[in-house]
Amino acid sequence: MSSSNNLIINKSKPLIGNLMIPGDKSISHRSIILGALSNGELTISNFLASDDCNATINAMRQLGADISVSEDKVRIKGKGLFGLREPKQIIDAGNSGTLIRLLTGVLAVQDFDSTITGDDSLKKRPMGRIIEPLTLCGAKIQAHEYKAPLTIHGSSTLKSIQYDQSVASAQVKSCLILSALYISGQSTFYEKIQTRDHTENLLEHFSYNINRDSNYLSLKGRQELIAKDILIGSDISSAAFFIVASLIVDGSCVEMRSVNINKFRTGIITVLREMGADIEISDVKSISNEVIGNIKVRYSKLKCVDIKGDIIPSLIDELPILFIACAAATGTSKISGIEELRYKESDRIMAMENGLKAIGINVHSSKDSIEITGGKITGGKVNSCDDHRIAMSFAVAGLISQCSLTIMDTQNISTSFPTFVTILRELGVEVFEV
Ligand code: S3P
Repeated sequence: MSSSNNLIINKSKPLIGNLMIPGDKSISHRSIILGALSNGELTISNFLASDDCNATINAMRQLGADISVSEDKVRIKGKGLFGLREPKQIIDAGNSGTLIRLLTGVLAVQDFDSTITGDDSLKKRPMGRIIEPLTLCGAKIQAHEYKAPLTIHGSSTLKSIQYDQSVASAQVKSCLILSALYISGQSTFYEKIQTRDHTENLLEHFSYNINRDSNYLSLKGRQELIAKDILIGSDISSAAFFIVASLIVDGSCVEMRSVNINKFRTGIITVLREMGADIEISDVKSISNEVIGNIKVRYSKLKCVDIKGDIIPSLIDELPILFIACAAATGTSKISGIEELRYKESDRIMAMENGLKAIGINVHSSKDSIEITGGKITGGKVNSCDDHRIAMSFAVAGLISQCSLTIMDTQNISTSFPTFVTILRELGVEVFEV
């Protein structure tokens, strides 16, 4: 992205092509953190070089990790579990909830103190969900009203963790798993609703022994992580923008290769298919203890959908773009049980409701649900609320708008998908940065 802040998108002709979607963000963060804690050397390929993941590289370097980057490859000489050193400065997690929450799990069990903070959006997000369970195990974390900055007084004598999920969050689970790596004895984890298991998959990739039985997980701390190269599949959360774009722009047919299709991330495919989407998945295989496949999408007439319950965590980041699909579908869609969306990079229920209304779509929301009636997208001006996924969702809406659609404050697209505008242009979409 250039330094321009606003995007203008015009109605598009059919989208046709093969796209290369960048690497998965969740796995990129985890591969840096766990790579730095491993013994040996490894190369990470198809790493997502976005602002969020670069913040993770910087944070781990501040903690003494030896990391070099060239294009989409990252080379790490692991320090081992007990090789980190006290940071000289405050660690800046930028916009990244994943970084602050996961790294706090590591920092809580070091034999030094540290402080971690972030940008204005991150400083508003809830941290009680990690502070409370860590404190129960003996961690000492200071934070005003459970918000960043967090000052962490490291301690190597935490009690083992018995985690019983109160909020379905892979970030909270992963934070506690990372602490558990340092705690002698067995920690146990129970999830009522299973969430993305990239941390667990990567630990196994590094030969760390964990016991998994559907919703239960247990692991013994202080085992060795043995470094091994990692190949990262494309991010389904980024692919989702082009999946929906291809479904709603008449005549489109787009293929995306080697997309990570971890079963806890593919709720968006399930729901779009229920809406009538023509989505084909082929060449499914395993890489670095994750599953990838090619995704081919053809324009489809979508109908409304009613979703709630256990499927929500598996499409939590895709809800904004799903709302655009609902706006382009026939009938009224209802999506419930989504209060978590209010605590993301922005209050995404409010941001999407305001934006959709501004472009002519009928929307009603409650604290934890939204109803969207499909209709004609008029175009106009929307506020992205400095949230990358809101900005990209409305860019996709612009592809079928009657008049051009202006999206304000889109610079945060680079936190997760720096090549988003380039790919739109490669597909022939008229995008202006102003
Ligand atoms: C993530 C988990 C999800 C997701 C976030 C990335 C992760 O957050 O929204 O973008 O990498 O673990 P929650 O765990 O808060 O649901």
